[in-house]
Amino acid sequence: MSDALLKELFSLEGRVAVVTGGTGVLGGAMAQGLAGLGARVAVLGRNQERAGKAVASITAAGGEAIALLADVNSQPELLAARDTLLARWGRVDILVNAAGGNVAAANVPDDASLFDVPKEAFAQVFDLNLMGTLLPTQVFGRAMVEHNREGGKQPEGSIVNISSMAAIRVISRVAGYSAAKAAVDNFTRWLAVELARKYGAGMRVNAIAPGFFVGEQNRALLLNPDGSLTARGNKIIEHTPAGRFGEPEELISTLGWLCSPGARFVTGLVVPVDGGFNIFSGV
Ligand SMILES: NC(=O)c1ccc[n+]([C@@H]2O[C@H](COP(=O)([O-])OP(=O)(O)OC[C@H]3O[C@@H](n4cnc5c(N)ncnc54)[C@H](OP(=O)(O)O)[C@@H]3O)[C@@H](O)[C@H]2O)c1
Repeated sequence: MSDALLKELFSLEGRVAVVTGGTGVLGGAMAQGLAGLGARVAVLGRNQERAGKAVASITAAGGEAIALLADVNSQPELLAARDTLLARWGRVDILVNAAGGNVAAANVPDDASLFDVPKEAFAQVFDLNLMGTLLPTQVFGRAMVEHNREGGKQPEGSIVNISSMAAIRVISRVAGYSAAKAAVDNFTRWLAVELARKYGAGMRVNAIAPGFFVGEQNRALLLNPDGSLTARGNKIIEHTPAGRFGEPEELISTLGWLCSPGARFVTGLVVPVDGGFNIFSGV
């Protein structure tokens, strides 16, 4: 195999990517990584300032990026974002559904009971993580199948959802978030089958299940103000064979692989990037 062919397997040159939650810690690193691998990247989020910063950091590194302001729970806002994207670049090849996170009201703290959790809290965390994956997939997935049919060929597109360890391992307290991310895993597999059968093998759907990374949402749960581990942070590290939290940049190679031409026979996977957390019994 020639060097050129090997390089082509991993190249995202010429691709157009949308990263929802690209304004956040993990989404931001993934947006930056896709741009570094050659893709033009649309950073989608609600916060204009953070979106602007993410775009500036990509362009400062020599990449091409735009900000799209939209709520992943608003179909009209997503449709407007899609129109802006298509007017600019004419296509979309990659969708990373990274917007998401926990909703505190859907947690069950040690001193409370599931019996008292309002169903609205579960609905809210499902809205953010499941509907917030479904709606962008409908909007940008349709654009993939309608705009990527050069020369009458079958469409090509790669959707990568962001799951969590909480989807596959029981983690205390986070009841609603765990159920919502488990639904994202199931939807990933269901959609992988559906898109391949209806639109051909070029349409692929996978997910990444990050282990524990210090983000804005979970910082106070994992670290004390002086940077030392909280009791919960300590338990997590004890259950992580790698013995540390992940660095956001450590998601990039897996994402790049899943989106690359080299992964054209890979669909329906949920890939853990977790320092071994999910396979360790703790003993
Ligand atoms: N950090 C971890 O350890 C970890 C582990 C496993 C999985 N995850 C998952 O990884 C993803 C990213 O997490 P993170 O730690 O990077 O969190 P983060 O820094 O809070 O980023 C999440 C981003 O999502 C965006 N967002 C939230 N609600 C939105 C909405 N309704 N519409 C559009 N954008 C919205 C927010 O941007 P705007 O404010 O601009 O809207 C925010 O920048 C989430 O799905 C999370 O569940 C994280």
